[in-house]
Amino acid sequence: MKRMLSGIKPTGQLHLGNYIGALRHFVEYQDEYEMYAFIANLHCITVPQDPEELHKNLRDCVALYLACGLDPSKATIFLQTDVRAHAQLGYICCCHTYMGELNRMTQFKDKQSKGEKNLSGGLYTYPALMAADILLYDADYVPVGEDQKQHVELTRDIAERMNNRYGDLFVVPEPLIAKVGARIMSLSDPTKKMSKSDETNKGCIYLLDPLKTARKKVMSAVTDSYAKVHFDPETQPGISNLMQILSSLSDNRPLGDIEAEFEGKGYGDFKRAVADAVCTKLEEIQTRYNEIIESGLVEKTLQEGAAKASILADAKLAKVQKAIGMEIIR
Ligand code: AMP
Ligand code: TRP
Repeated sequence: MKRMLSGIKPTGQLHLGNYIGALRHFVEYQDEYEMYAFIANLHCITVPQDPEELHKNLRDCVALYLACGLDPSKATIFLQTDVRAHAQLGYICCCHTYMGELNRMTQFKDKQSKGEKNLSGGLYTYPALMAADILLYDADYVPVGEDQKQHVELTRDIAERMNNRYGDLFVVPEPLIAKVGARIMSLSDPTKKMSKSDETNKGCIYLLDPLKTARKKVMSAVTDSYAKVHFDPETQPGISNLMQILSSLSDNRPLGDIEAEFEGKGYGDFKRAVADAVCTKLEEIQTRYNEIIESGLVEKTLQEGAAKASILADAKLAKVQKAIGMEIIR
C-alpha cells in the first residue's frame, strides 16, 4: 500500500480552503493509502502565537480532523512535537538546503515584500522542516493545496541531494494537487487566497463559523456584472471561485453541469445554492465536532498516533544519522 502524508498548520481556526484544498482529500484517501495526517505545531510558532489561543486551535484542529471524517483506526493522526524526530531531521535537512533555495520560497518572499517586520529565522527555514516531516515517513504522495507545491518540490530536491550523497535514504515524494479546489479564493477579494490572515473576516469561512455567519459571507461574496454563471477565473474570479466551492462540496460535480443548471438564472439563486451546500457541510462537521471536543477522543487519538508515527520516524532518523556518520553509541 502506498503511503501518504500531509499536515495543517493551525495558526488560526481551520477554514473552508483548508477543508477543500487539503482535509477532504485526507479523508478520501484514507481507505486507499496508508495515511499519516499530522498537526504542524512546530510550524505554527514560526509566527508569534498567543499560548492560550494556540492551545485551543491545536485541540480544535484534531477534533476537526475527526469531525471531517478522518478515522483513527485507518489514519495515523498525531501532533508534530509528540514525535521528536521532526525537529531533529528538520535541522539535518536545513543543513542540506541552500540559502538560495530558501530565498526563492514565495511564502517568505511575500511576507518580506509586504514589509512585515521581525520575521523569524524559523519562518525562513520552515521549508526544510516541512521536508523532514515528509521524508521521515517515506511518503509516496503529499496531498496539499496549490500554495504548498513549491515546498514539496524543494523536499524532492533535498531528498535527491541526500540520496546522492549518502546512498538511498528517502523515498522521493510527489505532491497531489486536485484540479478543482486547490486554491479557494477570498469571498471578499477573489484575487487573493482564502486565508486565516484575512483582516476583514468577510472573505474567509471558518469551519466553526455559525451557519448564519457563513451564509451571510456567501451571499455577500464579490461577483461581477456579467450576469452569467460561467467558469473563467481570469474574467470572473468571484463566480469561478463559488463554482469551485459548490463542485467540491457536491461530490466534485462537473463545472459544466453547474453552468447548465444556472443558465439564465440570477446570481442570487446561484449564491443560495452555494450557501446551502456550505451550510449543509458545516452543520455536519460541527455536529460531530461538538460530540468529539470534550469526549477525550482528541487525547486518545494523539497518544495512539504519536506511538505509531514514532516507530517509522525514529527508525528513519537513526538511519540518516548513521549514514551521515553522526552516531557513536547507537
Ligand atoms: P495551512 O493552513 O497553511 O497549514 O494549510 C493547510 C493545507 O490547506 C495546505 O495543504 C494548504 O495548501 C491548504 N490550503 C490553505 N489555504 C487554502 C486555500 N485557500 N485553498 C485551497 N487550499 C488551501
Ligand atoms: N506547510 C504546510 C502549510 O502551511 C503545512 C505542512 C507542514 C505540511 N509540514 C507538512 C503539509 C508536510 C504537507 C506535508 O500548509
